[in-house]
Amino acid sequence: MSTTTTDLLDGWHRTHKGGELRSSDVGKEVILFGWAQSARDHGGIVFIDLRDRWGVTQIVCDPAHSKGAHGKAEKVHSEYVLAAKGKVRARPANMANAKIPTGEIEVLIDELKVLNVSKPLPFQVEDELEVGEAVRLKYRYLDLRRPSVQRPFLIRHQIAQAARRYLDGQNFVDLETPMLTKSTPEGARDYLVPSRMHPGEFYALPQSPQLFKQILMVAGFERYYQIVKCFRDEDLRADRQPEFTQIDIEMSFVVAADVMREVEGLLRAIVGNVRGENYKVEFPRMSYADAMAKYGCDKPDLRFGLELVELSDIFKGSSFKVFREVVDGKGIIKALPVKGGAKFSRKEIDDFTGFAQSLGAKGLAWIKANPDGWQSPILKFFSEQEKAELQKRTKLETGDIVFFAADKPGAVNQVLAALRLHVGETLGLIDKEKLCFLWVTDFPMFDYDEKEKRLVAMHHPFTSPRAEDLGKLESAPLEIKAQAYDIVLNGYEVGGGSVRIHDMALQSGVFKILGIGEEEARLKFGFLLEALELGAPPHGGVALGLDRLAMILSGATSLREVITFPKTQRGQCLMSGAPSVVDHRQLLELSLRVDKQA
Ligand code: AMO
Ligand code: AMP
Repeated sequence: MSTTTTDLLDGWHRTHKGGELRSSDVGKEVILFGWAQSARDHGGIVFIDLRDRWGVTQIVCDPAHSKGAHGKAEKVHSEYVLAAKGKVRARPANMANAKIPTGEIEVLIDELKVLNVSKPLPFQVEDELEVGEAVRLKYRYLDLRRPSVQRPFLIRHQIAQAARRYLDGQNFVDLETPMLTKSTPEGARDYLVPSRMHPGEFYALPQSPQLFKQILMVAGFERYYQIVKCFRDEDLRADRQPEFTQIDIEMSFVVAADVMREVEGLLRAIVGNVRGENYKVEFPRMSYADAMAKYGCDKPDLRFGLELVELSDIFKGSSFKVFREVVDGKGIIKALPVKGGAKFSRKEIDDFTGFAQSLGAKGLAWIKANPDGWQSPILKFFSEQEKAELQKRTKLETGDIVFFAADKPGAVNQVLAALRLHVGETLGLIDKEKLCFLWVTDFPMFDYDEKEKRLVAMHHPFTSPRAEDLGKLESAPLEIKAQAYDIVLNGYEVGGGSVRIHDMALQSGVFKILGIGEEEARLKFGFLLEALELGAPPHGGVALGLDRLAMILSGATSLREVITFPKTQRGQCLMSGAPSVVDHRQLLELSLRVDKQA
């Protein structure tokens, strides 16, 4: 006869959480539930560390006290699921464990129930244990059982709860939008879902609820939010998952400043809930152009200094051929001066060079300012005037080093932005406790896609240009600034949004510039265009990346640490085995045939 868990638990109710009992509880009768972290036999007495979500309590099964409990305890192995009833007693002073909050007590067990057994484990459920990521993800439930692995999820929960409370308090309405939808042009590849009832037709999983939330503004909800899954089939990185979660917001009758103020309030509430009410954060602003000039990227980590300096004009006509040719070829030369960097050894400099080259740099020139003068493999090529000007711009002083990159602007910025972070890490300049938010504003409306040879939207095609730039729509589109804003935290883009176009004529104009013809626009987002013509209020919004916020606020370095069942770099779920082949019959129903050749 099998015993069900309900039978087993009959009349037993947990009285205390693990990690809760203290010396002041000595003498209390308690019932604890949990997993056997470990079981040890000392001189015929069995000691078990019983762990639940809240902590660990030592329970003691002594045959002199209860033969029944001891008999069961002798057979307990790691991760058996137990219920234990007994009395709290003080541990002998020399046996106290200062490492755990319950270390001064233990529970002498009267009655022990084994609720379930466990086979030998693929790895021990222990915080300190280093386990390969593939095994962790295959047995994700064992991995997640570890307190250190659970902790980031509790922070994620605090973030979501704070967001809901704050937004509810600000009169936002939580509205759901469809998951089976028409593709929205967020810039990534769509995940498609074949329709059974419409052979050859597909739904797309939303890359974001962008169009639907705009239409909810046309529908008169005025303030919308949703904590929502989004899906993007793009190349994955530590900070990019194929499915991720946004705190998605849209507001009517607003300008950019209104949305930004609301986001600041929201982020203050979130940080307050995680770090404590007294934790103060600031929201400085920087234009996209300044961010690119000073940091080489649009999401600078402001927890440390190290600013880039542009030097191209100094080397026009230089006798250093490498630099001169780059300037002649419309490239740029930028420098990364590093205070105290002259102490870098030749080997360290070679490593930095290798790092830069791995990002596509053709080289990484450098000058050290030693006490006995400058040292550099390229010094001999520079004129006195070039050296003087270089010194002035980079503020090079004895003890410093300056690195140079010369290439096309995009390549130079990419290399130096990454090198800046790498050097900052190497020199220990980054305070891991700090939270440095930054608004990046004044984004260009369009970018020129070299591969496709056409203009693309920097944010998305529904973003409004600045009113003062409307005249440039046809004549100088690349000079137009968008009413878009990104919120950056510690070097990660944690959110982005914009004021939208609510005027049909302007929306058509923007589509035209993007090379989206009238026919294509009608086909792809005709429903939005129609809505814009039926009383659309001015509106704008933003979406925050919940996973990224959770990652940063919990001190994690990968999104996989804040997603319960994440995908690998290759988009697989190692636990469930998705993606996987499906039955021929399922394909037939969907009118699909797999063409492995294609
Ligand atoms: P955007 O595409 O900038 O804007 O996305 C908003 C935020 O979502 C997070 N994010 C991701 N997080 C994890 N994995 C990913 N693959 C991923 N992609 C994006 C980032 C990003 O800042 N509809 C617009 C928002 C708007 O205009 O209101 C949008 O989706 O933190
Ligand atoms: P070379 O003359 O190629 O030996 O280069 C002399 C120095 O300039 C070396 O330290 C190279 O790393 C560096 N260098 C070469 N090309 C570049 C470049 N495009 N940007 C920055 N440094 C470079």
